[in-house]
Amino acid sequence: MRKKIIAGNWKMNKTRDEALQFVYAVSEKLPHIDEVDSVVCAPFPLLRTLCKRQGDNLRVGAQNMHYADSGAYTGEISADMLTTLGVTYVIIGHSERRAMFNETDETVNLKVKKAFEKGLIPILCVGETLEQREKGQEKQVVKAQLEKNLEGLNKNDIEHLVIAYEPIWAIGTGRTASAAQAEEMCAYVREVVKDLYGTAADKMRVQYGGSVKVDNIKEILSMPNIDGALVGGASLKADDFVKLVEAGVKK
Ligand code: 13P
Repeated sequence: MRKKIIAGNWKMNKTRDEALQFVYAVSEKLPHIDEVDSVVCAPFPLLRTLCKRQGDNLRVGAQNMHYADSGAYTGEISADMLTTLGVTYVIIGHSERRAMFNETDETVNLKVKKAFEKGLIPILCVGETLEQREKGQEKQVVKAQLEKNLEGLNKNDIEHLVIAYEPIWAIGTGRTASAAQAEEMCAYVREVVKDLYGTAADKMRVQYGGSVKVDNIKEILSMPNIDGALVGGASLKADDFVKLVEAGVKK
C-alpha cells in the first residue's frame, strides 16, 4: 500500500517570522512520518529555517531548481544547494512556472533527471487548462506532458517519483475537481506511466492538487489512485495544515 503524501505549496507567501510561527504551531501536532509524509514546499529564503526545525513528522521541499550543477545562471538555485540544507523534495513544472516563467517540457525533464541524480524527490506537476478540458483534451495533454517530462528515467526513479495532477482550472479558484474526476485523471496518469515504465508505476505516488481544503480532502484521498494532495492556499494556516495531514493517516 502506498503511504499518503500531503504537501503544502506555500508559493510566494510567508516571511521568516511567519514560517517560524507555522513550524512551532504544527511541530507537536503532526503525525509521525511512518504514518503519512507531510511536506512544506517553501520559498528559497525560508528553507534553512524550516530544515533546521524539521523533525520526524515534517519534511521540507523547494518550489523549483535549476537543471545545471552550477554556473552563470543569475538568480537560480542548484540541486546541491537544496540538499546541503536538508531539503528532501522539489516541485518541478508547476503550472504557474510553466505559464509565467517559461518552463517548458524540456526544462522540466532536465530538472526531474537532475533532482533524482542529486537525491531529491521531484513532485512533478501536470495538468490541463480550462480550455483544454472543455475541448475534451485533458488526457491527451497530460499524456504528452508525462511522455516528455519523464523521458530517460529508470524504474527506480519512477518508484520514488511523486506526480501531482493539478488541473489549472481548479488552482486557486475554489473550483475543485470532483473526487471522481480527480480519480479518473490520477488513474490515467498511472496508466500512462505504466505503459512507459511498467509496474514501477504501482509504487509511484500520484497527488491531486487544486482547491483542496480541510472539508474536501477526505473524499479525495478515499479514491484508490489518489495517494495524497498538493495544497496551496489551505496549507498556509497551521491548524488547517495539521488537519490536511491527519486526513492522510493510514487507517
Ligand atoms: P490551491 O490549493 O490554492 O488551489 O493551489 C493548488 C496548487 O497550485 C498547489 O500546487
